[in-house]
Amino acid sequence: MEIHSTIPALRQTLQGRGRIAFVPTMGNLHEGHIALMRAAREQGDTVVASIFVNRLQFGPSEDFDQYPRTFAADCDKLREAGVDVLFAPTESDLYPTPQSYFVDPPDLQHLLEGEFRPGHFRGVATVVLKLFNCVQPQAALFGKKDYQQLMLVRAMAEQLALPIAIVGVDTVRAADGLALSSRNGYLSVRERQQAPRLFQTLQTLRQALLQEGIGQLPRLEQEAAANLDRQGWKTDYIAVRQRANLLPPSDSSQKLVVLAAAQLGRTRLIDNIEV
Ligand code: PAF
Repeated sequence: MEIHSTIPALRQTLQGRGRIAFVPTMGNLHEGHIALMRAAREQGDTVVASIFVNRLQFGPSEDFDQYPRTFAADCDKLREAGVDVLFAPTESDLYPTPQSYFVDPPDLQHLLEGEFRPGHFRGVATVVLKLFNCVQPQAALFGKKDYQQLMLVRAMAEQLALPIAIVGVDTVRAADGLALSSRNGYLSVRERQQAPRLFQTLQTLRQALLQEGIGQLPRLEQEAAANLDRQGWKTDYIAVRQRANLLPPSDSSQKLVVLAAAQLGRTRLIDNIEV
């Protein structure tokens, strides 16, 4: 696997490498990322991954400094997964001058995650567009665990006519249902045992929704959140939304997704389940 940190070196090495499939990451890789790398292999001749912890998408009270940086172990995993090229810029490679041009996504950025992490999706969209410009892929792969992020990137690619296929890849879960996430590493042993409750709550809400219908919202959402809170969580939201736009459903023919974010101890976990 070739590793490049500068944009010119990356561009040079990617010349004449056929169709490029790209997986952007912030490192601290787990099986969920590796599933993205494997799926990327089916999308292109050359698989490019990036590792960059993007300051722009962290709020002032979030975990940018503490975010786990495990570069050597990540490189081993990427090599094993058959990644051809790793782009690992430093902050001054990617932001040689303070970034003052931003991608400002539409209202979707302020819903759900956006309500609790103001500015997060502006930072994500800006770095993703910049990484796309560096790598110039034909396909880019994102995990469905970050459902709202996937939707925003897909809409950005459409609206800005980027010649890139945005591919969503299913969430990888531990045997007990917990969605794999770099932030799971923050959980204590006891919290790790509690953590699958988030997915269980989503499953229970989906079941209730299938039986009782959307007429029973928001009661079902409130009950789900109260149930989680009673077990020691601090729920930010549990919401049934339309898959098309993440707005509340208005009729029963719409395709739905249930999304949740909740804090367990000091760790904030997100997850979702399509209905
Ligand atoms: O999902 C992530 O890891 C990040 O938000 C991304 C897409 C790599 C942008 O920094």
